Amino acid sequence: MKEIKSTSTFFEYENMAELTLIDQELMQAAIEVRKRAYAPYSKFRVGAAILLDDGTIIVGSNQENAAFPSGLCAERTAIFYAGATHPNAVMLSIAISASSDLKPTVTPIPPCGACRQAILEYENKQEQPIRMLFMGAEGPVIESPSLINILPFHFDKNSL
Ligand code: THU
Repeated sequence: MKEIKSTSTFFEYENMAELTLIDQELMQAAIEVRKRAYAPYSKFRVGAAILLDDGTIIVGSNQENAAFPSGLCAERTAIFYAGATHPNAVMLSIAISASSDLKPTVTPIPPCGACRQAILEYENKQEQPIRMLFMGAEGPVIESPSLINILPFHFDKNSL
């Protein structure tokens, strides 16, 4: 038996103002689309904004359903739309902002496991990292230089 270590490096920004202007614009797009999320059941709103290599920003928000599992997270709404409409574009970064209508959300909210898996697929497809920025409604922002950085021991096409 041997020990296998897995390490990840993240960057923390005190708040949005510390981001570059391009990242601020991307996060602002995530915040704006978050406000229009359809989340009548959880009251938890998530917005995601993806920057493509041609400068286009693709956004998505969580879309809930009375049959709960039929809803979809913001990140997958955005990335599937980007994949459908810009199949040859490279996705440079994804910014995510989450807030609850019921309580303040001031800590960074990372993407769920299913969304990590979905984003990994596109990172592998384009063979280039997708930078990730995530935050709550306000407060600190966490940057992960890639998706793979937050999904060790992942399942992908090499597993098939
Ligand atoms: N949600 C997202 O949109 N992204 C995530 O990564 C985690 C959760 C949504 C799904 C659901 O509409 C609400 O947040 C509560 O789970």
